[in-house]
Amino acid sequence: MTPPSRQPARRRTAVLATVPVTVAALLGTTGPTAAGTTGAPGAGDPYFPLSGNGGYDVRHYDLTLGYDPGSRRLDATAVLTARATRKLTRFDLDLKGLKVTAVTVDRTAAAFRRDGQELVVSPRHALREGQEFRVTVAYHGTPKPVTDPDGSADGWITTDDGAFVAGEPQGAMTWFPANGHPKDKASYDFTITVPQGRTAVANGVLLGQRTAHRKTTFRWRETQPMAAYLATATIGKFHVERYTTRDGIQVYNAVDAREARAAAPVLKKLPAVLAWESKLFGPYPFRSAGSIVDHAPDVGYALETQTRPLYDSAPDLDTLVHESAHQWFGDSVTLTAWKDIWLNEGFATYAEWLYSEQHGGRSAQRAFDALYARPAGDGLWAYPPGDPGSGAHIFGTPVYARGAMALHALRRAVGDRDFLRILRAWTTAHRGGHATTAQFVRLAEKTSGKQVDRLLRTWLYTQGKPNRP
Ligand code: TRP
Ligand code: ZN
Repeated sequence: MTPPSRQPARRRTAVLATVPVTVAALLGTTGPTAAGTTGAPGAGDPYFPLSGNGGYDVRHYDLTLGYDPGSRRLDATAVLTARATRKLTRFDLDLKGLKVTAVTVDRTAAAFRRDGQELVVSPRHALREGQEFRVTVAYHGTPKPVTDPDGSADGWITTDDGAFVAGEPQGAMTWFPANGHPKDKASYDFTITVPQGRTAVANGVLLGQRTAHRKTTFRWRETQPMAAYLATATIGKFHVERYTTRDGIQVYNAVDAREARAAAPVLKKLPAVLAWESKLFGPYPFRSAGSIVDHAPDVGYALETQTRPLYDSAPDLDTLVHESAHQWFGDSVTLTAWKDIWLNEGFATYAEWLYSEQHGGRSAQRAFDALYARPAGDGLWAYPPGDPGSGAHIFGTPVYARGAMALHALRRAVGDRDFLRILRAWTTAHRGGHATTAQFVRLAEKTSGKQVDRLLRTWLYTQGKPNRP
């Protein structure tokens, strides 16, 4: 199987940038430091040491954004409701670029400074362990995307009529102050004001839209826990289509006119794809759905933004199936370390294989065989999917394709019935939460009653081409 175009196969690998990393981040210091009460600048993820922060947990983001595509200026206020996980005299948020004009904690002005991608906040009064608090950050400027270790851009990416906003793995901080690591999920409210004629699309349900003084404000709400990388506020000139599926899911599609003709036959299949996936993976985890089909020719990938995947051009059916499957695998069941990315990409790729198999196309076995035929020197075997080694490899072919092969090897070992029971047990046990690879292996053994840890260890963790299972 040739790698789908959303894989970085067609992207240039950029020279690795040297990122300044603080000692605390390198040590993954999440416990109290010598001072005892300062929050850590990172969440302890070795692939992205400064992503996320330690010392608190965000419950809710309330983001108010005004964007002018002409001047590319963003004017924004973020209100975060959070809980201190220990006493805090100081804590960090992730925010890259942009000018911060004021920070308050529980309505009292707080001292703040910028340190690279960290916004360091010192509240007037220390926060007690367990204390709920509210941080308000007023900021503005011209958002710029970040360049990821693999050379791709993510975050706020301007287009000719607005912005393509995709935050995986670390771009959330380019447009709002966040606890940016997927370990910390929260609910979201978005209030986005754009010039009349543009549409602003975020996650969840559209609460309302109002036009006044030649500007339109869109209010969106996602009540289900969401990782920051899955948030979007994509802006453009879009054709909008809304309907409710037979299962009661509210669908909102936003499509760039230049992609409309190619997108239409694929988007029409969304309700059927979600219904088919629900049969296999368990109930659809959210109340709303849809697609954002932008015209962003330089982006080169799609993203499974929660409830409403974001495409850089009209998707093909495989890609729609893939991003829809992520709603279960990645969005509802979320990784706790980027090293476990195969839990997202291996599963979403395997969903494509199953879809094909059950819709008159190639069987998963044949997809597996075609990949397995690749010689030992092929890039597919360059590194193991369960341990890609660095942030530069998280979207590589071994993660997608060998990750899916690992699931196929498991299916062969336990049989179709137990394999599907494992997938369902997985989405049920971790619905709306988090999971790790070790938990998957244990759940697969418990559900099937078979010993599969050696098999999975081979497919997920060993270097080079595994022996045929
Ligand atoms: N998670 C996306 C998908 O497979 C792909 C993706 C998101 C990506 N961000 C990226 C790929 C950055 C390469 C670079 O559906
Ligand atoms: Zn994917």
